[in-house]
Amino acid sequence: MPLQINHRLLPLIALAGLSLPGAAVGMASEPATNSAATDGYDDQPTLSAVAQLGKKLFFDPSLSGGGQMSCATCHDPANHYAPANDHTIQLGGLHLDQPGIRAVPSLAYKMSTPSFSIGDESTADEAAEASPMTEASGAALANASAAVVGPLTAQAIVKADAPAANLVPKGGMFWDGRVDSLEEQALQPMISPFEMANADTATVYAKLKKGYGKDISALFGDNILNDQDMMISEIGFALARYQVEERSFHPYTSKYDYYLRGKAVLTDAEARGLKLFDDANKGNCASCHLDKMTGDGQMPNLTDFEFEALGAPRNPAIPANADARYYDTGICGPLRSDIYSAQPQNCGLFKTPTLRNVGARHVFFHNGVYRTLEDVTRFYVKRDTNPEEIYPKDASGKVLKYDDLPAQYQINIDVIDAPMNRKLGDTPALNDAEIADVVAFLKTLTDGYDPAKDGIKAAK
Ligand code: HEC
Ligand code: HEC
Repeated sequence: MPLQINHRLLPLIALAGLSLPGAAVGMASEPATNSAATDGYDDQPTLSAVAQLGKKLFFDPSLSGGGQMSCATCHDPANHYAPANDHTIQLGGLHLDQPGIRAVPSLAYKMSTPSFSIGDESTADEAAEASPMTEASGAALANASAAVVGPLTAQAIVKADAPAANLVPKGGMFWDGRVDSLEEQALQPMISPFEMANADTATVYAKLKKGYGKDISALFGDNILNDQDMMISEIGFALARYQVEERSFHPYTSKYDYYLRGKAVLTDAEARGLKLFDDANKGNCASCHLDKMTGDGQMPNLTDFEFEALGAPRNPAIPANADARYYDTGICGPLRSDIYSAQPQNCGLFKTPTLRNVGARHVFFHNGVYRTLEDVTRFYVKRDTNPEEIYPKDASGKVLKYDDLPAQYQINIDVIDAPMNRKLGDTPALNDAEIADVVAFLKTLTDGYDPAKDGIKAAK
């Protein structure tokens, strides 16, 4: 099972995390709202030595089985760490000809993702536990002096032990939440047969030892060179530190960020779109894609990190879907297999993604079935009122509603939250003009807005 995480690594990562309480606390709890001259949002801290190692690893194609693909190949820094091309899925493997099964998410704003848990919907937001990205590990902590400045958004979450009425899965990395942190996540693409395609962990270990032995022993001590598990966990740590410290992974420079900070004015269409996005009887988008600053000045994540089954249409452009018996059921697999994947109420559920930089994405949803934000928004409001516009029909003309989920799991599909609570023939919650306004708002979420330049342009 090359796609499964080596669980023996987890305790090591957790243990190593204990060695840097100071750094962890400092990172999580200091939104830079304190600087006098600037508001602290524009500083680029220098990368610590561990993060610099992570940066080298991130861009190094020699770490892939075929020598041609690095993390940056799919997570392109020029497009907010998402693919710049418009393929539904990306090709990987030894000869870059093996199709993946899911759309590549952006790596921006992943650091505030909480660990995977299943808890009560309401209490989950309240209690406090540090985000996994802030309990990072490493013997090289002396070097991790560079504080992360800016509006970090470590969100709190409780692990549920008591059974609650409404248990909602939340958090974790990937569309199915199958690993808990950026540290743990790093090995997976390296050994995935349709990503970087190394034969196994030992191959990755040998490559790291050869290519980075000197760097790694300088940071983590010589002993690590003879300890495969430790080495893998520390390079996961280095890759994670890079994603935490490098400012371009979480710049908070969208027009909407400037708007929230009182430094940009939305156009009429954008402002109408925001209102519809928030309105519980219209878009109701903000009920899952949280868009308000928190009381302590943290910027919104545009996700609540919770899992939902939306029932997106099947995408024939994914080669695996050629097999009619094949389904991607999110938490229930094919890539996740643990106690949660065996529970039928989790089947069809995918993690709510951040909508930050969504205007720069080429394909939408876990299966990349949509290519425009208009089509995504139309899906939400017409899925149940006009399913014939959303799903294909069979030979007899019958609409194949929810065609990407086996019948026994369709009961998991959300028909309670607006705008997905309407019935066949009802008026959709948004008309075409309103959809256009919501899309105008979504486009304000792209980083790289310049209030001086773009603001003047807009005023003209
Ligand atoms: C062949 C393309 C490809 C390469 C190369 C690749 N990834 Fe990914 N990455 C993906 C896909 C596809 C997903 C989503 C997979 C899923 O949800 O099952 C993903 C998901 C992730 C996530 C989780 C993001 C989220 O939204 O939860 C992280 C973090 C990540 N990759 C980091 C990396 C790192 C670090 C590397 C290099 C070691 C890397 N990736 C290499 C395609 C790639
Ligand atoms: C009940 C929670 C919920 C509500 C309400 C909701 N979303 Fe989502 N959103 C999700 C989930 C879950 C996904 C991922 C679904 C998947 O991939 O199968 C998603 C995905 C998206 C995506 C694709 C992002 C990407 O990177 O692929 C967009 C765009 C989006 N939502 C916009 C909206 C808009 C606009 C609204 C309001 C009209 C809205 N959402 C309402 C939960 C929600």
